[in-house]
Amino acid sequence: MIVLGIETSCDETAAAVCRDGSIISSHIRSQTIHKKYGGVVPEIASREHEKCLNKMVSDVLIDGGISKKELEGIAVTQGPGLSGTLISGVCFAKGLALGLGLPIMGVNHLEAHIFANFLADPTLKFPFICLLVSGGHTQLWYVKNFNDYQMMGESRDDAAGEAFDKGARILGLAYPGGPEIEKLAIGGNPNAIQFPRALRKNNNLEFSFSGLKTSLLYYMDDHKNADLNDVAASYQQAIIDVLITKLYWALDKTHCNTCVIAGGVAANQSLRDYSITKLSGKKVIFPEMDLCTDNAAMIAFLGELYLSRGHKSPIDFPILPNMKLA
Ligand code: KG4
Ligand code: ZN
Repeated sequence: MIVLGIETSCDETAAAVCRDGSIISSHIRSQTIHKKYGGVVPEIASREHEKCLNKMVSDVLIDGGISKKELEGIAVTQGPGLSGTLISGVCFAKGLALGLGLPIMGVNHLEAHIFANFLADPTLKFPFICLLVSGGHTQLWYVKNFNDYQMMGESRDDAAGEAFDKGARILGLAYPGGPEIEKLAIGGNPNAIQFPRALRKNNNLEFSFSGLKTSLLYYMDDHKNADLNDVAASYQQAIIDVLITKLYWALDKTHCNTCVIAGGVAANQSLRDYSITKLSGKKVIFPEMDLCTDNAAMIAFLGELYLSRGHKSPIDFPILPNMKLA
């Protein structure tokens, strides 16, 4: 089956084509305009999607050597995400589906992040544990089967990506903060400063990151001449340590041997390296870098899975900015 995927949940405009479980073309445009505001401005993000969706979809079809007539379905992110940006993508996708007489599938962005791991490793089998770490979510999922997911723990406050973004702002770095902190941490000592690790006892699978950024703020106030490489490396390590420790506990609790790490924070190389060391003996899977952050390949792939099983959304399906999984 040939499915076009469209993703506009935040500040990446993306389109991709999936044929029988393989991605044949995928384009992503990150909206750099938000850098100067230190975070995503929803109104600007929606307008940017509107401006480039048409050309991006034409280009991704040309790139994949697919004509509109060959498409058999359209998948689009239904939520979670920013209302305005979701509307841009969903309205565009509905127009295309109606015009071409194609079935449409509203896709859960979180589920798509999890399923990006099947693109990374087509031999991946259920059940597995997924650590989902993005700008808006930090969750541990017991993925038992297609459409059978159990939440094991999540963040009570900030998401891990948010902790990177807010930490970066305190350090005067640009948005998004994750890659900036990662760069600054190179050459720094991750054990130089003992930033707090919240809820890190008794196999508690919940997370909390709001105290961490406050402690960074206080540290910087008290240490005006701090070595910034050490600060970034220690801050990054505090986040990674908690994430991977809890992933280990979740694997232990479920007796699972396989885990996947999904979402934008999974692009962090130190997190990848640490998880391989800390989870030795377990199978650890990450998507490639551009499949970790927001992309349409994961939307097209999951959309095709649903559509090929006979699922589809009614044409008047709503956007769901707070869409949950399971
Ligand atoms: O999954 P994603 O692209 O968008 C959401 O669905 O939220 O995740 C974005 C988040 C941002 O908070 C960003 O700072 C973080 O992922 N991120 C990283 C890295 N690349 C992106 N965090 C740590 N290290 C990175 N290399
Ligand atoms: Zn995402």
